[in-house]
Amino acid sequence: MAFKRIVTHIKDYSSTLVVLVVWCGLVLTSLVSNVYSTREHTEALAMKEARSNFNKDKSFRLWGASHGGVYVPITKRTQPNPRLSHIPERDITTPSGVKLTLMNPAWMIRQIMNDYSRLYQGRGKITTFPEMLFNPKNAPDKWELASLYEFEGGKHETVAFTKINNEPYLRLMRPMFIEEPCLKCHAKQGYKVGELRGGVSVSVPMKEYYAEEHKQAQITVVSHGMIWLLGVAGIVIFGRRKRMATKKILESREQAIAANQAKTQFLANMSHELRTPLNAIIGFSEMIKSEIFGSVGSDRNKEYVHDIQMSGEHLLSVINDMLDVAQIEAGALDYIESEVDLAQVIEECIHLETARAVQGDLTIRSNIPEGIPSVRADVTRVKQILLNLLSNAIKFTPAGGTVLVQSEVRPDGEINVSVKDTGIGIKEDDISKVFEPFVQVENIFTRTHHGSGIGLSISKRLSALHGGELNIESELGVGTKATVTFPKERICGAVD
Ligand code: HEC
Repeated sequence: MAFKRIVTHIKDYSSTLVVLVVWCGLVLTSLVSNVYSTREHTEALAMKEARSNFNKDKSFRLWGASHGGVYVPITKRTQPNPRLSHIPERDITTPSGVKLTLMNPAWMIRQIMNDYSRLYQGRGKITTFPEMLFNPKNAPDKWELASLYEFEGGKHETVAFTKINNEPYLRLMRPMFIEEPCLKCHAKQGYKVGELRGGVSVSVPMKEYYAEEHKQAQITVVSHGMIWLLGVAGIVIFGRRKRMATKKILESREQAIAANQAKTQFLANMSHELRTPLNAIIGFSEMIKSEIFGSVGSDRNKEYVHDIQMSGEHLLSVINDMLDVAQIEAGALDYIESEVDLAQVIEECIHLETARAVQGDLTIRSNIPEGIPSVRADVTRVKQILLNLLSNAIKFTPAGGTVLVQSEVRPDGEINVSVKDTGIGIKEDDISKVFEPFVQVENIFTRTHHGSGIGLSISKRLSALHGGELNIESELGVGTKATVTFPKERICGAVD
């Protein structure tokens, strides 16, 4: 019981839940992609800084090399470089007696880096393969060595986000090739123009970038959280309203069903109450007419009694029709299934209507093929349908006309029984209306003819009770063909 309630609860809320899940998914996707793109943005910025640092660094080195190194005054810190001892005029004296020494590009840059590290964020470093090292201080670290090998393989740049002394750094390295000016100092090592002889790396500290990124991510998370909350609130409120509206609709539908049932019950009760006295009227007028307990007297009295009996019978048939409709609507119709021999039933019904046909100067013909199979049905109801169709056909066919009853097994296995007349026909627009009980029918059918006008409606419902259909084709002034169809499952001995 409790489980059932939970299930219905979940069903009530299911559409809201689905929307909520989709919303959460959307916001989450947006959040992840935003945070991810913030990271991409950070890295792109850092790369830009690394490259511009590298280029500045490189232009300093090339400038120094293009001048074959630069002369600087000898001081305690800047002593003549022993690795340049092979260069003639490494040390010179100006005419005024100031002593100068030659400074090579690598040294120059190293000194700039040391002296102005605060101005210069990204540190640059020149290095080469260990076996070619001029100065052991320039020895490559693990990453630089790996990059050097990659340059040998043809790569032009290596990039890595790594840690140096436990701080995050972006490292970028590019190869250095020997050019003409380099040979002044490096020819001694046997270097030739165009050879890969090392590389320059720069490293950009990422700490500040990451701090900025973190701030951005926080803003993204908070704004997404707010949007998410707003959305959730909206979905919940909307879902609740929708649920309430659905509930109201369901309630009013239930009320309508209850009202309809009450109406049906009322009709059934009333029909019953009316039938009892009517039966008395019919029975007693019959007795009076047959003069069982004495003469009626004048012929006129006899005629009146006859009229009373006829009117009573007519009224009874109308009430019976009404009761049928009420019972079908309430699903309370007595219904007994048996094997029904269609050919025989058709014959019986035609026989019952023959007198009336003769009276109206009509011919009834039938065309029933041999061996038409029996159907599982309520024989009384099948007769009721056929009698109704026949009496309608007779009623609405002018003198001299024909009513034809036919039956056939269709290729798809269904059985048809049709009643075709050469009567007044029905307007195309009105065909659908003939099946409505009480409504409209009055005008179409009974304006000039007697009857309750709900026979067709009952017949259609009775056909439906058998899983079948009742269809009407008609042309004004030409005639009408009413066809009852029984589904093939109804055929006795049929395999479903
Ligand atoms: C003025 C002389 C001079 C010129 C010009 C010069 N270098 Fe150097 N280079 C040196 C000296 C000296 C060292 C080593 C000492 C140091 O690190 O200061 C060195 C170091 C290097 C290193 C670092 C590896 C090592 O052996 O220590 C590389 C790579 C290098 N030079 C490449 C070049 C290239 C490429 C050029 C041309 C664009 C060039 N050098 C121009 C003198 C020079």
